[in-house]
Amino acid sequence: MYPFFFRTVLSRLDAEFAHHCGMLVVRLVGIRPFAWIARPLTRPANRLQTRALGLVFDSPFGVAAGFDKNVVGVPGLTALGFGHVEVGTVTAVPQEGNPKPRLFRLIPDRALVNRMGFNNRGAAAAAARLARMRRRRRHRALIGVNIGKSRVVDVADATADYVRSATLLAPLADYLAVNVSSPNTPGLRGLQAVQTLRPRCRRCRMPRAGPRCW
Ligand SMILES: Cc1cc2nc3c(=O)[nH]c(=O)nc-3n(C[C@H](O)[C@H](O)[C@H](O)COP(=O)(O)O)c2cc1C
Repeated sequence: MYPFFFRTVLSRLDAEFAHHCGMLVVRLVGIRPFAWIARPLTRPANRLQTRALGLVFDSPFGVAAGFDKNVVGVPGLTALGFGHVEVGTVTAVPQEGNPKPRLFRLIPDRALVNRMGFNNRGAAAAAARLARMRRRRRHRALIGVNIGKSRVVDVADATADYVRSATLLAPLADYLAVNVSSPNTPGLRGLQAVQTLRPRCRRCRMPRAGPRCW
């Protein structure tokens, strides 16, 4: 069904607009009673349970960062049977991302070119949503939080910027991912050097409440 739907509908839409349509459906699926209907149909088989990073995942299939940048789709994605959702990338300072268009389909290659540039509503907004979700316990999937450097912050001040996000988000996450790989934030990949990365990761680790930090 999906290839047909992609050929006839999705491939004709602007890629970012298609993403928003998809996210709308995901959000609807997360609403009771749709979630109650979907969950038994998509619940992962027990044999799919997977241990990694000291955590137990209901399924090895999860949603990578970049799909749910603003923590709005976790209940729906859980209802669809994913074992984890990595939300973000979230930055300490809310930002618009790159000017549109910034997402391009390469249909013959079955690929996308992504130049989103960490568009997101910021760490404080993400923390508020995560805290609300944790209180309501409306999901079973593990939640990873992926944090990145705010564009307005100088590379020299990157560590403090990451720590700002980690302080807000790590206590609410099952694991934290420190993103130093996006080509869309100037200077970010320069932060990959192990000598500077190790102390940065160490500073992001929360001593008691927080998750493992990789
Ligand atoms: C539109 C788009 C946006 C993405 N945004 C992020 C992001 O914000 N943070 C991140 O760490 N990875 C981001 N990614 C990378 C994905 O998390 C993933 O690593 C990548 O898509 C490769 O996995 P795949 O082969 O399953 O697509 C993005 C990917 C795409 C296509």
